[in-house]
Amino acid sequence: PSALFADRLNSSGFDLANELELDKLEQALNQAQIANARSLLAVNNEASHLTPHPVRNPADLNQVVAEVAFFAPEHLESVFNAARQSEWQAQSAVQRAQILRKTADLYQQHHGLLMKLAVLEAGKTLPNAIAELREAVDFLRYYAAQLDDLQQRGKLAPPRGTALCISPWNFPLAIFTGQIAAALAAGNAVIAKPAEQTSLIAYAAVNLFYQAGLPRSALQLILGAGDVGAALVKLPFDAIVFTGSTDVAKLIAEQCAQAENEPVLIAETGGQNVLVVDSSALSEQVVADVLSSAFDSAGQRCSALRVLLLQQEVADKLYTMLAQALQELTLGNPALLATDIGPVIDEEAKQNLLAHKAKMRGLARRYIELESADNPEAQAHGHYVAPAIYLLDDLQPLQREVFGPILHIVPYHKAQLAQQLQAINAKGYALTGGCHSRIRKQIDFVERHLKCGNFYVNRNIVGAVVGVQPFGGHGLSGTGPKAGGEFYLQRLTRATDYYSRF
Ligand code: NAD
Ligand code: ALA
Repeated sequence: PSALFADRLNSSGFDLANELELDKLEQALNQAQIANARSLLAVNNEASHLTPHPVRNPADLNQVVAEVAFFAPEHLESVFNAARQSEWQAQSAVQRAQILRKTADLYQQHHGLLMKLAVLEAGKTLPNAIAELREAVDFLRYYAAQLDDLQQRGKLAPPRGTALCISPWNFPLAIFTGQIAAALAAGNAVIAKPAEQTSLIAYAAVNLFYQAGLPRSALQLILGAGDVGAALVKLPFDAIVFTGSTDVAKLIAEQCAQAENEPVLIAETGGQNVLVVDSSALSEQVVADVLSSAFDSAGQRCSALRVLLLQQEVADKLYTMLAQALQELTLGNPALLATDIGPVIDEEAKQNLLAHKAKMRGLARRYIELESADNPEAQAHGHYVAPAIYLLDDLQPLQREVFGPILHIVPYHKAQLAQQLQAINAKGYALTGGCHSRIRKQIDFVERHLKCGNFYVNRNIVGAVVGVQPFGGHGLSGTGPKAGGEFYLQRLTRATDYYSRF
């Protein structure tokens, strides 16, 4: 890559330990005004096509944050046609990169609004809301820099045409923005369908793209639930970028396989993510890294740690340390700085997690759940799930990703580690993984035997940084190039066809 690309710097966050900085941030959060949201289209947005829904704060269901209007799935064709006719791809690469950079600047200027929405709509803690904003800004600047770089080296291929971006609620700004930024940078007109739970932040973000000079036909926002996503997928898009559950990705892949125009598909989904800890690992570091990997964002990260494999000889000691550390966590209102773990996203998620916990209590050799979480007020007003650790005898009960603050521990005998890793691989996922050890040979062994997309050594296994740790997996965890890496934007161009002509 050119020097320009190599010199690109990621954004800095806020220092919450600095009182002046914290005061300013709190002011920005207090002053931000949240608007009601509806689809943002290049064609008419008629009232008869819309159904209103109140958005409630997952931390306090008595609080209605604002209202959103979902778009009727029957009226999507005119939206698609408007995208097809967009002149976005006729804009020069320089203009496209400028608009993305300007959008990044506007995101930073409007950090109060975007972070407030991440907290009130998605239940993010303040540090998570900061990380969310930073990652979104980094995606915008990363793909802009990559666009410049490809253009300067004469390697920029034409766009695919019209792209559909479908995103999840757990990174409602970062992933929503990353998908769109790459598709727009490549020159595609985009229709974006964010998760129904996080429509307000998507609406605020798209308005900032428009403020930066992006034409409406280049990016249209469709608000709605899964039925709207399913209807969109049936339209003849040239590219589909999806992040969400494995089940929905499979449905979309089937649809793509049957489509006459053979759209390109990038899918990023879930994981049954594993960290292996051997007897040489530094216990205190293991405890810190396990807590952040399993419980940060209330465990609602695709990258989150689900299965901790502990070498038999240290399993009891580490279980005890982790159980004690778990009791130090604070579950509660994500708007408060003292909070470590906020709510889960909705009632359905909460009920699924509570059912899984009930099952695990019956199976676990030992278990621990955060005691203070039984606070009746928190239970009554929000979708809270107490984080928990279950020490199991084997991997058998862990067939599917469980998306929340629940960690499973399984001890292993050194001689059987390869079989344990094979058993994990056999579940079909391959997203994140890691190893804590001070023995190089042991780390290499785990890396060789564990199938995953991102492998982390002697650290936590969450928080991939744009342009530094390109993120993604394979198998049931997804298909397509990694986000925030050099091949993602190019997959959304006709790079392969283009270069084969020479
Ligand atoms: P989800 O699959 O339920 O929803 C994701 C998006 O798809 C939403 O916008 C939803 O409205 C839409 N959708 C639902 N049904 C659809 C259909 N039939 N056709 C088209 N679109 C449809 O997932 P979620 O609950 O929002 O997100 C959590 C999941 O996302 C977890 O499994 C998590 O692991 C995964 N995830 C993966 C990554 C990654 O990069 N690998 C990142 C974040 C989240
Ligand atoms: N990119 C996110 C992480 O690495 C999902 O945690």
